[in-house]
Amino acid sequence: MPSSAGRFREVIDRIAGEMARLTDRGSPADYIPALAGADPGCFGMAVAEPDGTVYGAGDWRRPFSAQSLTKVFALALVLSLEGESLWRRVGREPSGNPFNSLVQLEYENGIPRNPFINAGALVVTDRLQSLTGNAAERVRELLRVESGNAGIDFVPEIAASEAAHGDRNAALAHFMAAYGNITTPVPELLTAYFRQCSLEASCADLALAGSFLARHGVRADGSALLTRSQAKQVNAVMLTCGTYDAAGEFAYRVGLPGKSGVGGGIIAVVPGVCTLCVWSPGLDRRGNSVAGVSALDRFTTLTGLSVF
Ligand code: DON
Repeated sequence: MPSSAGRFREVIDRIAGEMARLTDRGSPADYIPALAGADPGCFGMAVAEPDGTVYGAGDWRRPFSAQSLTKVFALALVLSLEGESLWRRVGREPSGNPFNSLVQLEYENGIPRNPFINAGALVVTDRLQSLTGNAAERVRELLRVESGNAGIDFVPEIAASEAAHGDRNAALAHFMAAYGNITTPVPELLTAYFRQCSLEASCADLALAGSFLARHGVRADGSALLTRSQAKQVNAVMLTCGTYDAAGEFAYRVGLPGKSGVGGGIIAVVPGVCTLCVWSPGLDRRGNSVAGVSALDRFTTLTGLSVF
């Protein structure tokens, strides 16, 4: 394989061709009506190399709803601002449960298993809101600056749709507030969380924005967002918890740190080599993009690159 920038172009084109022929593509998320109309036929894949080179195939420049992909960026911001103390309020073990599950919280005294299930992401957004006063804007800013796309923005209709169907998230937030693990007033927290989830960006934007994870914490301008050790920690939590109750299957098939969102996006990291973002709105029953997981599976199979 050539070692120059752009070395994965042929592989990406080949995978996009294969994904175009995929027949079982899953179904778009239907619990947020604003996402239900997405076309499962869409597919995009982008690769960002550590020097900022980005390229892709298919719908790789088309914006989609980032949803839970934003949880990676919120986590990185909180770790950069307060470091280790976050881990007193949220764990880093796989939950083995669906992303919006409530069941473990009472057994575990209001401390969510990890920052990527909804309960844990609400704690992270709560911390970011407490530390900055504007959590969603901070996530938007990080995406804009790292991707170089100042057009990345919230989609108010998606945020409103989530709020209108947000009873589970409200239940999670109130329950954790009862344990003292949420300090922002719950309505304010939910507004920030739904705005954060409503951010729309393309595979190109998100692969570039997630490049600090392949660069061991270093931002596009050369400054450090995270220490090398913190970048390793975020990648580790992505590997073990980023695809919810399918994290074992994702590690088995793909073998990379990855984070999915119900908009159909997945960010994956080959530390030191590249950050990938794939998007296809059809989901499996665990909420992960069917074509997205297949494409990443093909990428690590064809290139031999994984963390294992
Ligand atoms: O909290 C929610 O329901 C969504 N806004 C985000 C969920 C999500 O993307 C989980 N992913 N697979």
